[in-house]
Amino acid sequence: MDGELTNSAGPNRLFIAGSNDQYLAQIEQAVHSFYEPQSFTDSHELMDVLYSKTPSALVLDSALPGMPGVDVISKIRGLIGGDAMPIIFTIAAGRQDVIEAANKFPGVVCLEKPYKRSDLLNVIADQINGFVEAKWEKIEPVQRNALKKTLGSFTAIADTLINGEELDYGVVKDNCVDLVRAVQSNNFKEILQGVKEHHNYTYAHSMRVATLLSLFGDAIGITGEDHMTLTTGGLLHDVGKMSIPHEILNKKGKLDDEERLLMNDHVLFTTQFLERSTTVPKGAMVIAGQHHEKLDGTGYPNGFAGPQVNKLARMACIIDIFSALTDERSYKAAMSPEKAFGIMEDMGGYHLDKLLLKTFKDMLLSGVLH
Ligand SMILES: [Fe+2]
Ligand SMILES: [Fe+2]
Repeated sequence: MDGELTNSAGPNRLFIAGSNDQYLAQIEQAVHSFYEPQSFTDSHELMDVLYSKTPSALVLDSALPGMPGVDVISKIRGLIGGDAMPIIFTIAAGRQDVIEAANKFPGVVCLEKPYKRSDLLNVIADQINGFVEAKWEKIEPVQRNALKKTLGSFTAIADTLINGEELDYGVVKDNCVDLVRAVQSNNFKEILQGVKEHHNYTYAHSMRVATLLSLFGDAIGITGEDHMTLTTGGLLHDVGKMSIPHEILNKKGKLDDEERLLMNDHVLFTTQFLERSTTVPKGAMVIAGQHHEKLDGTGYPNGFAGPQVNKLARMACIIDIFSALTDERSYKAAMSPEKAFGIMEDMGGYHLDKLLLKTFKDMLLSGVLH
């Protein structure tokens, strides 16, 4: 059956198959900040690995020793079907015949040489996201709508931000109605699963934070408009990250001092953007502006301490750290919730609100996510 024969090789795993080391090195260099590349120079070895693992995408060169590239595509599609993994097929200029032959297979996009690095990265990200979003069609309707509407909202926010326009908060709120409904009916697990492999990390992270914050609020009795504000606040809390260069957002190693300062500015970028609109509720502004503050005053951007840190921001800070620890990224594996709570409990008392942390932990480990 399509895709079910194989195990996922991880959300960021990218297979690259090509005829020579130079080709493989060039692509590895281009993608390494976003993906975990694994290279192949032999079509038979590629097939062997694909039999047991499916990466997020395959970048395949038309000139591959052992078998013509189009025959490799044909074999792969016979093995794992058209909806399991996109194939980005790189082809020498002027080979219209090869392009036509490749396009007969589903889930294949052709990229003619020479191409720019940004074109390659955009094609890979678009293909992976297209495959992830296509899987949402099979999800239960409320959760599917929650995913589709929040993604639509997020994409529109990116344009609004870039064009210097004002956020239409009413639209964001409308697009969060299904998410709130899903949370309130305890019908949200496919949402968390569905965003996992999405390649727009800021969206995937924001959606996880919005869902978990909404759940947390529901569990402690926050209702009505306040509950909606908690949910929209979660979705909007990091939108300023869209102004941070990809290389810094996805850097595998530790950020240097200059990069760290720029990264921290995402809070300022977010609040400046949200302040352009007069209709964003105060609670959502607080979540965006204070979610990196720590109770001992060592957080940013204001170094607020103790009672200066609003309760909504304390909740958001807990969810934000939990989400970051339990997410899988190109540079780190996902951590189990139990291990994440162990680390967070060490921060309790001086960084995080101990009582809220305990409430969130009890809620999660009582079976909400299992
Ligand atoms: Fe943040
Ligand atoms: Fe965040």
